[in-house]
Amino acid sequence: MTSVTIQVEQLLRTPRPRTGETATAAGGVCDPKLADGPWALDAVPGAPLPMPEYGPGSSNADVAPASTPVQQQIPAEYRRTPVPELEARIRAARATLGDRLVILGHYYQRDEVVQFADFVGDSFQLAQQSTTRTDAEFVVFCGVHFMAETADLLASPGQSVILPNLAAGCSMADMADIDSVSACWDQLTALYGTEPDEQGRVPVIPVTYMNSSAALKAFCGDRGGIVCTSSNAAAVLEWAFQRGQRVLFFPDQHLGRNTAKAMGVGLDEMPLWDPRKPLGGNDSQALTDARVVLWRGWCSVHQRFTPEQIAGARAANPDVRVIVHPECPVEVVDAADEAGSTQYIKRAVETAPPGTAFAIGTEINMVRRLAEQHPEHTITCLDPVICPCSTMYRIHPAYLAWVLESLVRGEVVNQVRVPADVADSARTALQRMLAVRP
Ligand code: 13P
Ligand code: SF4
Repeated sequence: MTSVTIQVEQLLRTPRPRTGETATAAGGVCDPKLADGPWALDAVPGAPLPMPEYGPGSSNADVAPASTPVQQQIPAEYRRTPVPELEARIRAARATLGDRLVILGHYYQRDEVVQFADFVGDSFQLAQQSTTRTDAEFVVFCGVHFMAETADLLASPGQSVILPNLAAGCSMADMADIDSVSACWDQLTALYGTEPDEQGRVPVIPVTYMNSSAALKAFCGDRGGIVCTSSNAAAVLEWAFQRGQRVLFFPDQHLGRNTAKAMGVGLDEMPLWDPRKPLGGNDSQALTDARVVLWRGWCSVHQRFTPEQIAGARAANPDVRVIVHPECPVEVVDAADEAGSTQYIKRAVETAPPGTAFAIGTEINMVRRLAEQHPEHTITCLDPVICPCSTMYRIHPAYLAWVLESLVRGEVVNQVRVPADVADSARTALQRMLAVRP
């Protein structure tokens, strides 16, 4: 076994930090502020606003753009309350709210929060789940901003969707904004024209990953486009190729490249669009010959995985089964045994014969939870440096207690509401996705 594997296994076996114990003290390498006091990263009301950063962790280098919602500091009382007391208060508020409330939690969310979720799932499952509890007045979404926006788009009239910490964004989603995607579209349509070919396929169809703003979903809805998630990306690309000669895929280049490559599209048919350069940094012939134009976006968590880590895991155990998320770079997906969405990874672990060794390339909260839930297997993370999604981590039990107790008092805080002028078109793109069968 390599020292890397031993180190990761030790970290995975390390008990999760509790109150008064920082993640670093407990053996992780996550910044203690992020684990124990993410409000240190919130805006201070009244103070001149520095650009709020996503905070330490894997997205350390990503700075939140100006349009990112700003979380004001939660009341001091919540910041001071120890986690066990917060947990008791969350339970009490939940009991008081009863069926008026549903709590959704993404797999990448920390355990201290996930324990309260009525449904835990990937972004596709949570989008579906949010449509099944039409009786619940309040949908509290323990995930990130684009997921809460999606739940709001699919919500029934009278339902409020609440994101406990508005600063829980997604650095990848913020890499594509409506202005730069519109500028790209104008250049592509000037080049391609708008006439369908003899099979009735339009020159280009826009496809946005779920990890995008509602404005971009609306952009797709208005232009015959569609949304995809990592669990249905291949089926959605099939749908798009039936209707278009080419696809403009944003914001994640890796999901687009990996999915299209697995469908037989050549890497040379997938130029990368850099929004800072004319024609995205391409010549017009490359764009004309393209099957998929890939936006230059990525996930800071999944971009950390490397083929060298996979080689290390195989050297340590030649029988290891390596599974990575399709947001990883193509060389990593090529070197792995399998690639799939968070739900795919979970199912693979659940259905494997006991004693299977897994090396997994995805977010650490999920890998750690799988390791805890499946002691019959040996499950390690490919990355030796513990690698949380730092924005998911912004949802601490203090924020959950605050929003739930506010609801008990009749006050809705941190509601995520998609503006009416984009909601209908964004819903169209989402409903096209929900109608596609993987
Ligand atoms: P899933 O679609 O697998 O839930 O992934 C969401 C995400 O943000 C992955 O980084
Ligand atoms: Fe965004 Fe990556 Fe976090 Fe997923 S893991 S929410 S893509 S930053």
